[in-house]
Amino acid sequence: MDWISRPSGPLRGTLTVPGDKSVSHRALMLAALAEGDSLISGFLEGEDTRATAAVLAQLGVSIETPAAGERLVHGVGLRGLRGAGRPLDCGNAGTGMRLLAGLLAGQAFDATLIGDESLSRRPMRRVTEPLASMGARIDSQAGLPPLHVHGGQRLRGIRYELPVASAQVKSALLLAGLYAEGETEILEPHPTRDYTERMLAAFGWPIEFAPGRARLTGGHALRAIDVQVPADFSSAAFFLVAASLVPGSDLTLCAVGLNPRRTGLLHALRLMGADIEVLDERQSGGEPVADLRVRHAPLRGIELPGELVPDMIDEFPALFVAAAAAQGATVISGAAELRVKESDRIASMATGLRALGVQLQETPDGAIITGGTMGPGAIESHGDHRVAMSFAVAGLVAKGNVRIGDCRNVATSFPGFVELANRCGFALADA
Ligand code: S3P
Repeated sequence: MDWISRPSGPLRGTLTVPGDKSVSHRALMLAALAEGDSLISGFLEGEDTRATAAVLAQLGVSIETPAAGERLVHGVGLRGLRGAGRPLDCGNAGTGMRLLAGLLAGQAFDATLIGDESLSRRPMRRVTEPLASMGARIDSQAGLPPLHVHGGQRLRGIRYELPVASAQVKSALLLAGLYAEGETEILEPHPTRDYTERMLAAFGWPIEFAPGRARLTGGHALRAIDVQVPADFSSAAFFLVAASLVPGSDLTLCAVGLNPRRTGLLHALRLMGADIEVLDERQSGGEPVADLRVRHAPLRGIELPGELVPDMIDEFPALFVAAAAAQGATVISGAAELRVKESDRIASMATGLRALGVQLQETPDGAIITGGTMGPGAIESHGDHRVAMSFAVAGLVAKGNVRIGDCRNVATSFPGFVELANRCGFALADA
């Protein structure tokens, strides 16, 4: 499925983007392992999170959908899952597969995790190796999926210093730690999103955590709670950039999750001169949320501060577009992890932006992007949802139509993107 994004007038209005993907995955998993029924509201109806729900259903968890954006999970308790007897399909979701690998490592039964073409190319040693040192037995295909997780292993807690900042790896180990004897302690080179830690505490599991470290012991129980999922900052990001770039824009995004480990792009855009107001800051479901009002403002290039990188790891495709339309050069470094996301995001964005006439120098861990005008052109999303949506934003300010190839995976994280975008002033259509 290809899209055409056309130059448009101002973006205006008030909108709510779908629920947070990271929170939705975790809410399903913890609710499944809890004792009692948990109602998840604001659940992301994306393919990634639906894949996780389907996997848990295969493992014997009954999950109802009282309404769109809601899941009622009948928890089976820590030892209540049962083997599925057939492969568990995580679709496009790295979060789904990596967290489930940790969760499954301590079960009594064998399980095989599979994924789509993109997920089948993503590195899994980062979870299988530390899980193995906890006593897990997981076979991979030279470090890639499918993962075959052997059941009936005795896990023991470990103290593990993550070599790269990764909330997925941290979370996988904490989930395995629920089943381990003794203490599991995770130390991070830079703090990453702490949803697993916060949610474990909310489900009643004793856990100590602070930015950059988390510690728990096995052998407790999770108690069902209701979870309110905030709107996904990563989905709001496309609109923050779009409204900053299109003259006359004034857009408000409602109830966006502002976990500090997610808001690096907000700081980066402000450094570039963006006009973004954080309104009505409040707590929802244990997470900070606020409405974000973004108005057009001319952007200038920046040298991206390295400490922002982990806090905006999913927002680089959007930042690349902001940089391409800014005045002057933007220097991005320390972001080599982008090469192992749903696509190699440095290469995907560099190739696409160059096709639109942008001057860009790719580096192993980032890029130097010289801002200016973007021409019309045709680009490939490489099946990467965030690359596709970022080029939809580029099309708003290009000097002609931008054709974007292979946009079907946008449904993994942002169902209804085209409709919502067009409602506030995008000119986006199927090609
Ligand atoms: C996620 C962590 C990040 C992020 C991904 C979601 C999570 O991945 O890119 O979209 O929910 O834990 P890494 O842990 O690989 O950095």
